[in-house]
Amino acid sequence: MTDSKVKTVDKKIDVYERQAVLYDEIYASQGKDYQEEARQIHNVIDSHKRSDGSQLLDVGCGTGGHFPFLSKWYKVEGLDLDGHMLAVAKRRFPDISFHQGDMANFNLENQFDAVTCLFSAIGYTKKAESMQKSIVNMAKHVNPGGVLVVEPWFSPDQWTVGRPSAVFVDKPDLKIARVNISEQRDNVSVINFHILVATPGKVEEFTELHELGLFTKEQYLRGFEMAGLKVEHDPKGITGRGLYIGLKS
Ligand SMILES: C[S@@+](CC[C@H](N)C(=O)[O-])C[C@H]1O[C@@H](n2cnc3c(N)ncnc32)[C@H](O)[C@@H]1O
Repeated sequence: MTDSKVKTVDKKIDVYERQAVLYDEIYASQGKDYQEEARQIHNVIDSHKRSDGSQLLDVGCGTGGHFPFLSKWYKVEGLDLDGHMLAVAKRRFPDISFHQGDMANFNLENQFDAVTCLFSAIGYTKKAESMQKSIVNMAKHVNPGGVLVVEPWFSPDQWTVGRPSAVFVDKPDLKIARVNISEQRDNVSVINFHILVATPGKVEEFTELHELGLFTKEQYLRGFEMAGLKVEHDPKGITGRGLYIGLKS
């Protein structure tokens, strides 16, 4: 995903792709419910969208966890910056179109009835100006009458520095321990995951650095305003992080 230091490298398997594979194991172990989230996202889209079509683009799609469920209602496409996450997504869903690009400046020369940006992918833009530029760019890919749904990262007042976190995967042939403490530099949250992975015959050790901007509600709303969208904020959203729903007239 983002910056990564690797102390033990399996030469046969691309280690960054390995980390993308671990992504699914880690969030499955945490009970992340992609099916229920997709159902709620569909309800939000369905109750706001005025366009007739059902084309959906998921920006920052990662390994595509929402796709098998969103596909019930939409013709889905995915976009992500990270080639390793996309490689996993393409392997899982060979019939879906995926694009590699940066949410701030991709151009698919196509418009969709819904554009989604979920699980705080927007936070990776780090700076408010880049976040707003990304919202404007995603909005360009929305059809008139379509919607842009953004699930934000935490705001500065929701972030506590120094808090320890841990996630464990305990399967017969796969053990993962991922720990970190929450850090902050200016208005950027810093998460340096320390990851231990045990598989038959070996233990690997990684660090994986994630830096996400801590943006205020006003900064998000300003992004939608700059994009010319009418916007609603649901403070709870689908996972408790909130949801911004923009409608293009
Ligand atoms: C927390 S993951 C969320 C993945 C997926 N939406 C999910 O719900 O599992 C964040 C994703 O955003 C992607 N990402 C980060 N910065 C990006 C950018 N500037 N443009 C597009 N994707 C980006 C990362 O590569 C990663 O796959």
